[in-house]
Amino acid sequence: MAAVLLLLLALALPAATNALTADGLALLSFRAAVLQDPTGALADWNASDADPCSWNGVACDDAGVRRVVALSLPRKDLVAALPASPLPDSLRHLNLRGNRLYGTLPPALLAGAAGLQSLVLYGNELYGPVPAELGDLPYLQILDLSSNALNGSLPGSILKCRRLRRLSLGRNNLTGPIPPGFGRELSALEELNLSYNRFSGAVPDDIGNLSRLEGTVDLSHNDFSGPIPASLGKLPEKVYIDLSYNNLSGPIPQNGALENRGPTAFLGNLGLCGPPLENPCSPPSSNPSVPKDGESGAGGNGSGRSKGLGKGDIVAIVLADVAGILIIALVFFYCYWKRVSPKEKGHGAATGSKESRSGCFSRDEPETPSEQHDLVLLDQKLRFDLDELLKASAFVLGKSGIGIVYKVVLEDGLTMAVRRLGEGGLQRFKEFQSEVEAIGKVRHPNVVALRAYYWSFDEKLLIYDYISNGSLSSAIHGMCYQLNRAL
Ligand SMILES: *[C@@H]1O[C@H](CO)[C@@H](O)[C@H](O)[C@H]1NC(C)=O
Ligand SMILES: *[C@@H]1O[C@H](CO)[C@@H](O)[C@H](O)[C@H]1NC(C)=O
Ligand SMILES: *[C@@H]1O[C@H](CO)[C@@H](O)[C@H](O)[C@H]1NC(C)=O
Ligand SMILES: *[C@@H]1O[C@H](CO)[C@@H](O)[C@H](O)[C@H]1NC(C)=O
Ligand SMILES: *[C@@H]1O[C@H](CO)[C@@H](O)[C@H](O)[C@H]1NC(C)=O
Ligand SMILES: *[C@@H]1O[C@H](CO)[C@@H](O)[C@H](O)[C@H]1NC(C)=O
Ligand SMILES: *[C@@H]1O[C@H](CO)[C@@H](O)[C@H](O)[C@H]1NC(C)=O
Repeated sequence: MAAVLLLLLALALPAATNALTADGLALLSFRAAVLQDPTGALADWNASDADPCSWNGVACDDAGVRRVVALSLPRKDLVAALPASPLPDSLRHLNLRGNRLYGTLPPALLAGAAGLQSLVLYGNELYGPVPAELGDLPYLQILDLSSNALNGSLPGSILKCRRLRRLSLGRNNLTGPIPPGFGRELSALEELNLSYNRFSGAVPDDIGNLSRLEGTVDLSHNDFSGPIPASLGKLPEKVYIDLSYNNLSGPIPQNGALENRGPTAFLGNLGLCGPPLENPCSPPSSNPSVPKDGESGAGGNGSGRSKGLGKGDIVAIVLADVAGILIIALVFFYCYWKRVSPKEKGHGAATGSKESRSGCFSRDEPETPSEQHDLVLLDQKLRFDLDELLKASAFVLGKSGIGIVYKVVLEDGLTMAVRRLGEGGLQRFKEFQSEVEAIGKVRHPNVVALRAYYWSFDEKLLIYDYISNGSLSSAIHGMCYQLNRAL
């Protein structure tokens, strides 16, 4: 009887529909673990299909037997505990970010998916350890487990993922030291974010050997202790390393990529001292102070603070002071401008605000802080603010009597050229503004476009498009000549 049934089945199945491939079955066991699918993301995962290649979120290769290579279901509000059954062994990309996956990251899920190149699970509710089995994924290039509740330490086996380009583990609850050899083994790393965990121990000095790193290396908000290794200065110049809010101590090395930095990267470390922080290294002080704006005069000698400071120190201090002074100065002058010339509305870009002139200097004005214009953007498509500009990696393109031009790479990769006119000149904001905006309106192939500017008592910044070939510096030279004459 049973044999007859089996025979019937064997005959019937190929005729009716092809049986679902093994890859499809593996995916169905993932679906079986999903408790809620409010957006219907898995509604077309039909078990009677021949293969899963048409299913939502599934991608296959084009080889004869179409194998599943990617599963991508971001932000679908799927509620599920990740199943312990293996994924298709052909899978190369798994992206389930922004769902409501809970429970642990089961090692068995990854077992067999040895060809995995990217694993993106950020923004879920996973807890428990980072599985050591990640080390069995030799092709892994992108590992993003940030914004979960993973705990325990980072397994040393991660160092076996030699191809890793992006490691994002921010906003978890990970503890313990970074495995030794991190900077030696993971030499392909381009992006590193370990922020908002409870990692402890020393900042590995071989991180300085990661020459492919880009953007911001975020080690902030951890429990790293000990000195900042001077070898971090070997990082590429463009890299901004954020070490804020740790337990680091000692002097801040002033070399290579650590030079010319603002204080932002070092705040919140009680034991750090020396420039760009304000507390000197000896006598030791426990005050990693935020720059104050007490001294706003355009005193040529750094208001008596400095003895024999190098250019780097001065830039760092100035940038630090800019943060404090600019905000106050800009609010002041914004209000001043509003009062003096209320008719000039709709003029330029500085007017993105509601009309609340009456409150500018009054006590009971809750809106004042939000009315600040840190930075006047002439191009409304630009999206950056003072903070981003200060956090960006900056390096010197050239110097002249008029000021220093920096190339500034913002976190999102946007590159701008910033000319720091410095503290020279006593022109009023309004004069400066109208000149600058006049220049900003010039559109000529040989003139590089002005995108934004800053004004304060002791700092004036002009922000241009960055043009990589040599024409930038000549263009800016010409422009500043023009500007200086105008002023
Ligand atoms: C699955 O596919 C079969 C045949 O292709 C169809 O009859 C059935 O309605 C589908 N089921 C769902 C839930 O779409
Ligand atoms: C991190 O771990 C601590 C102690 O184990 C716990 O109290 C805290 O709630 C955890 N935080 C998160 C975000 O999981
Ligand atoms: C991780 O967190 C869970 C519960 O949140 C706890 O039971 C476990 O002990 C933690 N593991 C470590 C290594 O802290
Ligand atoms: C690092 O990751 C955390 C969590 O996703 C995020 O909040 C933070 O902005 C990231 N840092 C950088 C520099 O992108
Ligand atoms: C870092 O690189 C330098 C040479 O570039 C090498 O001498 C040094 O041993 C490396 N450090 C580590 C810890 O790998
Ligand atoms: C900070 O680091 C020192 C060692 O440098 C250690 O003794 C101290 O306990 C650490 N403090 C915290 C809050 O982790
Ligand atoms: C500023 O420094 C220069 C030399 O660096 C010195 O000659 C001059 O007297 C100083 N001025 C003030 C006001 O300290």
